[in-house]
Amino acid sequence: MSFTQRHLLGIEPLHPLEITQLLDLAETYVELNRSTAKHAAVLAGLTQINMFFEASTRTQASFELAGKRLGADVMNMQVGHSSVKKGETLIDTALTLNAMHPDLLVVRHPSSGAVNLLSEKVNCAVLNAGDGRHEHPTQALLDALTIRRKKGRLHRLVVAICGDIAHSRVARSNLLLLGKMENRVRLVGPPTLMPAGVAEFGCEVFDDMAAGLEGADVVMMLRLQKERMDGAFIPSEREFFHRYGLDSEKLSRARPDAIVMHPGPMNRGVEIDGLIADDINRSVIQEQVEMGVAVRMAAMDLLAQNLRRDRLKAALREA
Ligand code: NCD
Repeated sequence: MSFTQRHLLGIEPLHPLEITQLLDLAETYVELNRSTAKHAAVLAGLTQINMFFEASTRTQASFELAGKRLGADVMNMQVGHSSVKKGETLIDTALTLNAMHPDLLVVRHPSSGAVNLLSEKVNCAVLNAGDGRHEHPTQALLDALTIRRKKGRLHRLVVAICGDIAHSRVARSNLLLLGKMENRVRLVGPPTLMPAGVAEFGCEVFDDMAAGLEGADVVMMLRLQKERMDGAFIPSEREFFHRYGLDSEKLSRARPDAIVMHPGPMNRGVEIDGLIADDINRSVIQEQVEMGVAVRMAAMDLLAQNLRRDRLKAALREA
């Protein structure tokens, strides 16, 4: 057993062997999810609370399905309807929930670091479903599983991550994961959308799509995160599409067997041409969604095993 984490807060603390173990377990859940009876009792008796302080469609649905398929009692906290609206702090909300004895807490929050802070205040396993611009570990893991299945390996690949890198937690988690697994990562986008200090991650930076996509095995497109922009980062969406939007001409620079990815939600005609997104020979966007459920099942399964072990140890110490 190499997965030693108590929480899944980011890719940063993970060892490559932990990543591989999680992906291997996720493979078994891909099979389960494709069968008619999609149930395993590994989380039976456990309570999972999903707390989303930011809008989400696929991530929340995916965590909910993952928990239900593994037999957990799943509750979705509608944060918009809760006391948070009345000014209760994140920590107060967490302590209130903690008193209900959850075992798994899935949290999405607009502030970077909020989920880490929360994990210090509760006594259950916390999974980061995206915090500000910081990390979105399950997205990087589902991307990794998709790549590994499509390319037959998860090392020595050239991966181009394109578009709004500066505001993207998906880019950050992917960069960390792909780096740990010894791939060559290229960041492609306008200088205004590149984070400061990007060089320290050891990746190549391009502001030209043709050069950045040359010979790539994987082309990962990102959404323009308009909600995180507090000024004009691009001249116009039309101009952005012209220079950085993925169309067949730009994609022709990548390897002929290159796959196209996007975490969703997509802005068709802004960062990606709808025809490419729907091209079943190139786009693996639907597979990413499918892998998302399996990866979240694997993550919760491993964390629940460690939680049970820690609680047993604590009980033995007290006895
Ligand atoms: C991403 C997110 O929320 O960080 N979406 C997702 O989880 N599927 C990317 C995005 O919002 O653009």
